[in-house]
Amino acid sequence: AEPGLLQGKKVVVTSGGTIERIDPVRYITNDSSGKMGFAIAKAAREMGADVRLIYGRTDVAPPAGVDAEPVQSAEEMYRAVLKHWESSDLVIKAAAVADYRPAETASSKIKKKGDTMTLELVKTVDILEELGKSKTHQFLIGFAAETHDVETYAKDKLRRKNADLIVANDVTAEGAGFRSDTNIVQVFDEAGLVEQMPVMSKDDIARRLLAIAAGRMKEAGNR
Ligand code: PMT
Repeated sequence: AEPGLLQGKKVVVTSGGTIERIDPVRYITNDSSGKMGFAIAKAAREMGADVRLIYGRTDVAPPAGVDAEPVQSAEEMYRAVLKHWESSDLVIKAAAVADYRPAETASSKIKKKGDTMTLELVKTVDILEELGKSKTHQFLIGFAAETHDVETYAKDKLRRKNADLIVANDVTAEGAGFRSDTNIVQVFDEAGLVEQMPVMSKDDIARRLLAIAAGRMKEAGNR
């Protein structure tokens, strides 16, 4: 992509997995390494954007030169994103946010007791859905991590969460999804498939995706 495509735009990217605490030494998380979101933040920076990166648990370090804020839980990620929501032009939710968290977080380490133990979970805030509801001028991109019926679920998420684009990845496919340096994605909008990307590096996917977004934002601005 050309440098300068996102010049003057404020872009918020979320990355990594959230951490939902059970007690001071235990938590629930997922396999997100942070690579996909970090690639997007880096590419947006290279395209001239003012980037805010909000990231959870990751396996790699955030890219240099972007304003990066570490968070833990879905709730914290939501609050961090909200601080920048009004002033942002483009928000990309590549983070793997936990759908449920422990109903209570114990303040001291939970002791071993009986042979079984039950952990009660409650729903977390759906950040993308909340953003979709309060969207005004922002261009909103969500991801969909699926293991089957990728297209059906991706389109459903796009509508339900009022995103402008959804990037679907079949996380069971070889060379795609969590942890790898490559991904295989399909980008959807309201009308259907926008672009199918074969196995590509996360860096290349980030550049393509941002070029699509920049084009759409320009069109919207010219209308
Ligand atoms: O980090 P990597 O190892 O590079 O892996 C990349 C990735 C597989 C994590 C990434 O490509 C990806 O698919 N991210 C989204 C993972 C996910 O949470 O998918 P989902 O289908 O559960 O959620 C759909 C969308 O809603 C996502 O944009 C997610 O950020 C958002 N969401 C979900 C739940 C929630 N409580 N709040 C949200 O905002």
